[in-house]
Amino acid sequence: MKLPTSLPLAFASALTVSAVPVALDTAAGTITLQLNIDLNQDGLVGAGAGANNAHDLFTFTSMHAVQATPDQVVNGTTPTGGIAGASGTFHFGINSAANMICYNITLHNFQGEFESPADTATHIHEAARGASGPPRIAFPNPQPVDAAGIVRNSAGCLTGPFLTGVVMDGRDTGESFHVRQIEENPAAFMADTHSSLALPGAVRGQLA
Ligand SMILES: *[C@@H]1O[C@H](CO)[C@@H](O)[C@H](O)[C@H]1NC(C)=O
Ligand SMILES: *[C@@H]1O[C@H](CO)[C@@H](O)[C@H](O)[C@H]1NC(C)=O
Repeated sequence: MKLPTSLPLAFASALTVSAVPVALDTAAGTITLQLNIDLNQDGLVGAGAGANNAHDLFTFTSMHAVQATPDQVVNGTTPTGGIAGASGTFHFGINSAANMICYNITLHNFQGEFESPADTATHIHEAARGASGPPRIAFPNPQPVDAAGIVRNSAGCLTGPFLTGVVMDGRDTGESFHVRQIEENPAAFMADTHSSLALPGAVRGQLA
């Protein structure tokens, strides 16, 4: 359907439609519906996301750029070195109203295979600088963008509820996690990716 350009803004931005069957003729195979159209501007758009209007869904409440390096990788509090020569850039855009995080992750010189007990090997962990901690969000592993696989990238958005595939104390470590927690204390979080050649992490970077 092509919308007329003179369509009133309220109509274009919010439209709630519900259908109530008022007649059901099973023999004829027809259902007559009564359509209720509600032009309440605050009603529909972003309702599923917890946002109040169309623009809220497309607005980040914070953005984070993380430079991940091998020297920041630890197991417990012991530096393990990661993958020498590898680096990562983790860009995040957080929409705390929608519990959504958009990511653009680029790795250079990753070696080995992605490997982790979690669903993927690329994460945000709740872990202070120099310490380990549980993964809270698992991102799709960056895939090669060149034939040699020197550069790898993954980009997209994830919306909670989050699951990591790692169970601690009987709960998935992503369970009940809300991206608002990152905004409240970014220093308590880090981004990393794990390799078969460096299980504690290939590269790691602190969000603050
Ligand atoms: C991801 O970031 C890189 C720069 O690090 C940029 O070149 C690329 O266009 C970005 N991709 C998306 C989908 O935003
Ligand atoms: C971290 O160190 C502990 C204790 O040495 C070890 O059991 C564990 O396998 C290590 N974890 C990784 C991911 O290498």
